[in-house]
Amino acid sequence: MQQSMTEFKNMTEQAVPKMSARDIHVRYGDNHAVKGISLDLHLNEITSLIGPSGCGKSTFLRCLNRMNDSVAGCKVTGQILLDNKNIYDQNIDVVQLRARVGMVFQKPNPFPKSIYDNVAYGPRIHGLAHNRTDLDEIVETSLERAGLWQEVKDRMDSPGTALSGGQQQRLCIARAIAVNPEVILMDEPCSALDPIATAKVETLMDELKSEYAIVIVTHSMQQAARISQKTAFFHLGELVEQGDTTQIFTAPRNEKTRDYITGRFG
Ligand SMILES: Nc1ncnc2c1ncn2[C@@H]1O[C@H](COP(=O)(O)OP(=O)(O)O)[C@@H](O)[C@H]1O
Ligand SMILES: [Mg+2]
Repeated sequence: MQQSMTEFKNMTEQAVPKMSARDIHVRYGDNHAVKGISLDLHLNEITSLIGPSGCGKSTFLRCLNRMNDSVAGCKVTGQILLDNKNIYDQNIDVVQLRARVGMVFQKPNPFPKSIYDNVAYGPRIHGLAHNRTDLDEIVETSLERAGLWQEVKDRMDSPGTALSGGQQQRLCIARAIAVNPEVILMDEPCSALDPIATAKVETLMDELKSEYAIVIVTHSMQQAARISQKTAFFHLGELVEQGDTTQIFTAPRNEKTRDYITGRFG
């Protein structure tokens, strides 16, 4: 009975999207950068956004935690639901939203603080720890989950910026997961990393998907094929085709998708 309840819960969670974008348009002044995109994101899945440079992938990704709010001249219309609530509603606390929908950027951007403080920062401002022991535990667990603990546990007071690029990116992932997000957005998180660091981050993403919904923008089709369950192909601001990654890469339905994945443009 216990087992079947869990299975039922998992099935239900699978079926209900964690996030749903509905008819999203983004304009920067006259530049209509994102044109009517609808996309569902599920827990336990990695969704890749692929497509030629300038097609609106980053712009769309930033809509998912309202990072475009602070971009001058940027106007977003449409609906984005997180657990069925529109994140663009007036009463939404954006700081809270960004804890639930965390972000990792292309260039690792640790704060100019110690390794410890980089990870402790979010839990501190969100009041997630009652005392230092709690906070220590959150920091350790987050670094563990980001696959970095063993490498840094003896130098928690050194600056985050002194780590290697790949370690810095894992530190940024630890910082994002320290506030218990539900969704993690990653904008080309490996493009500044060497192949070994890239492989580590990919392995980590694969592990993290057991707890989160993950969206990754990548210009590497090999990476999308390796790590994601769902793929969405963007072109000139439109979402041309989305589906299971295997289908997109082996049997694309749209001619533009086929041209892109066979390297005919982009
Ligand atoms: N901060 C910004 N201000 C003005 N225009 C922008 C900004 N960011 C992106 N754009 C424009 O929006 C379009 C989509 O860009 P972007 O989302 O960065 O594409 P991608 O991530 O697919 O390369 C481009 O025409 C780009 O010039
Ligand atoms: Mg981009």
